[in-house]
Amino acid sequence: MPTAAEIKQLTDEIIKLKQERNAIILSHVYQRPEVQEAADFVGDSLELSRKAAGTKADVIVFCGVHFMAESASILSPQKTVLLPEEDAGCPMADMVTVEALRAKKTEVPEAVVVCYVNTSAEVKAECDIACTSANAVKVVASLPQDRPIIFVPDKNLGAYVTSQTGREMILWEGYCNTHHRLTADMVRAVKDSHPGALLLVHPECLPEVVNMADHVASTTGMLRYAGENPATEYIVATEMGILHQFSKRYPGKTFYPASNKLVCPNMKATTLDKVLTALQTLEPRVTVPEDIRARALQCLERMLAVQ
Ligand code: 13P
Ligand code: SF4
Repeated sequence: MPTAAEIKQLTDEIIKLKQERNAIILSHVYQRPEVQEAADFVGDSLELSRKAAGTKADVIVFCGVHFMAESASILSPQKTVLLPEEDAGCPMADMVTVEALRAKKTEVPEAVVVCYVNTSAEVKAECDIACTSANAVKVVASLPQDRPIIFVPDKNLGAYVTSQTGREMILWEGYCNTHHRLTADMVRAVKDSHPGALLLVHPECLPEVVNMADHVASTTGMLRYAGENPATEYIVATEMGILHQFSKRYPGKTFYPASNKLVCPNMKATTLDKVLTALQTLEPRVTVPEDIRARALQCLERMLAVQ
């Protein structure tokens, strides 16, 4: 853990260099608090994609995981996209490969293929439309009724979308290691300790946990809900990095993690000194080969067009 003085020094150096490089720092809400504080914009996967697509900066420093930086590069190929920790991957994204998806598509050739944005560029290039947890219900509801749907890779998000849209889908056997470890018993224990608190649940959680929720939402949806709702206590069932934003935005309210195990090691791999090194060296860069990029772009653009 860096000291407060080290954090200040690193942040000052980052801000100075960021201006010289005409760089923007984007951070997911699961990042370390000090990384979120050094960022120009903190948001969920959908907001970060929109920012990456619209920014005028020459360099995007993506404090998140690999598929997010890849999406930024797909949307803004002329920009330098940096992922400060190059090994920050997403185990769920790795649960679907191009080969396995092609085999499934051959089984159901008439299907529309929807991919969670937590997928590689190669997989996106094989899919018709992407979604994030913020817009998955709208994306699926926008699809033709007479076509089957293959949904990859998150079976929990897929099950939640089915519960909201009534659309049965062919679900992939993928899941997020972090959200998946939260059981209904663990949530019940926290609810017993805080009976007045509302339960906010991310749709990557197990269906039994999603079914207990007062509100199911993406990370930004949860933040918005706690701002608009008069309740003062909340149990938060998603990665713990988000607690920094909750307490920063709503200091008069109290937020409890649904479990202290809700930590994504990949999201925590980015540190301030890695952000500084990335700005100094303009490495590690994330790029996508043009033939894959062009097809993956269609998949992302169709998602961004859904209102
Ligand atoms: P959102 O920020 O879109 O809710 O995504 C959650 C997530 O797991 C990203 O890796
Ligand atoms: Fe992947 Fe889950 Fe980590 Fe998000 S929280 S990056 S879905 S492993």
